[in-house]
Amino acid sequence: MQVIFDLVVYIIPIIGMVIYHNTVELINLGYFLSFYFTFFIPLYNYMVLKIWLKPSPIENKLKAASRLKSYGEVYGKIPANGWYKLLHSHELKNGDVRYVELVGREFALFRGYDGVARCIDAYCIHLGANLAIGGKVIGSCIQCPFHQWTFNGHGEATCIPYSEGKIPSNAKTRSYYITEYYGEIMVWIHKLDSKPDYHLPTQIDFENGNMVHVDYMDTEINMHLLEFVENSTDFAHFQPLHGQMTIPFTPIIIPGLTVNHSPDWKEGKKEKKDENSVNSTEIEELTENDKCYFFDNADLSLFNCRIPGSSASAMITIIGCASVVTFTFKTPIGNIIILQTHTPHNSLIRMNVSFSWFATRTMPRFLVFYIVGNWISQWQNDILIWENKKYILKPLPPVLVRGDGPMNKSRRYVKKFYTFNTDESNNPEENPTSCAASNW
Ligand code: FES
Ligand SMILES: [Fe+2]
Repeated sequence: MQVIFDLVVYIIPIIGMVIYHNTVELINLGYFLSFYFTFFIPLYNYMVLKIWLKPSPIENKLKAASRLKSYGEVYGKIPANGWYKLLHSHELKNGDVRYVELVGREFALFRGYDGVARCIDAYCIHLGANLAIGGKVIGSCIQCPFHQWTFNGHGEATCIPYSEGKIPSNAKTRSYYITEYYGEIMVWIHKLDSKPDYHLPTQIDFENGNMVHVDYMDTEINMHLLEFVENSTDFAHFQPLHGQMTIPFTPIIIPGLTVNHSPDWKEGKKEKKDENSVNSTEIEELTENDKCYFFDNADLSLFNCRIPGSSASAMITIIGCASVVTFTFKTPIGNIIILQTHTPHNSLIRMNVSFSWFATRTMPRFLVFYIVGNWISQWQNDILIWENKKYILKPLPPVLVRGDGPMNKSRRYVKKFYTFNTDESNNPEENPTSCAASNW
């Protein structure tokens, strides 16, 4: 259905122009084609992504199971400890209750009339009703639809309407740490249910109003969380998958226009400020070891000739195990930050991916549209690989060669977000990957 609609939308303007062109001079054809490729196609595809979301179809069970198995006993079975997006903030109004499942857990998420979002286990500690299905917000608590016990955001029963006795001290269900992060409701998930190990970084430009929210977009893909971090250190895939310029929001390649990448990757730690580096301020501020950074200085070539002045740099901050990622694009007339979240479903090999973007208040919106559209196009180029690949956990180390990028470092980096059993044999990488032929 979508294909037929696409064809109709793509072809009708062309047929219209051919008929019109028979009656007017050639120059109009140039105007038309420029408009068609520069505005019409990106805008149409933006609307398709935005309105219909185009989630990837759920993959067949056998293939999903086989791919998931390749991630091993730990990565294939438990989620990384970290902050995960539950919903966009605007999807939970005061008094709303939502049932949300992710990474094998089920939540009753509700917003009290005081405006604060809270999250507790979906199933009532009394006789197991689902609090989120039929439950009601009373003040800052949630009332169970079955026998009307109420629970606060800490999971404690605060009222048992038909009982005059004292509320038992064990009338308490599991609660979760929640934070609202620039329009996203985030929940902290830890295998041992312990307190957050790290906090999401403050974005100064959002706080002081220099940058404002522009738009957002969500979709679903069949991908494991580890792949995003690994992608950032897999330098050898940049030219084959991201080496060509595409029309924003589409996979349509612009002929002759290629992108030359100069990638770099670092784990977050205190670094000396380098005044000449566009990214120095951010690095200095982000000193914790719960982040890693990917930098790309890229420029364009037209039929193999470098285009002067076409270079641009981007910094990607991977927070935790990539459940939250920020992309910072700097231009002479303003900056853009894309906040991207990855939230695995119950199957750790399918996830919700959400993009929410912010721009300098004065930046022209069509430029924001183009830059974000380009990023989303480039991101889409990875999907075919992610959705069909396995994770090479064994043999250790994987066969890497000079030029592959610091994948041994990113594999060590992700390990700190997993809680391994004390039995070391369950550690997926007892011997961290090494690469004798690599210079990393
Ligand atoms: S099951 Fe919730 S109050 Fe009884
Ligand atoms: Fe990629």
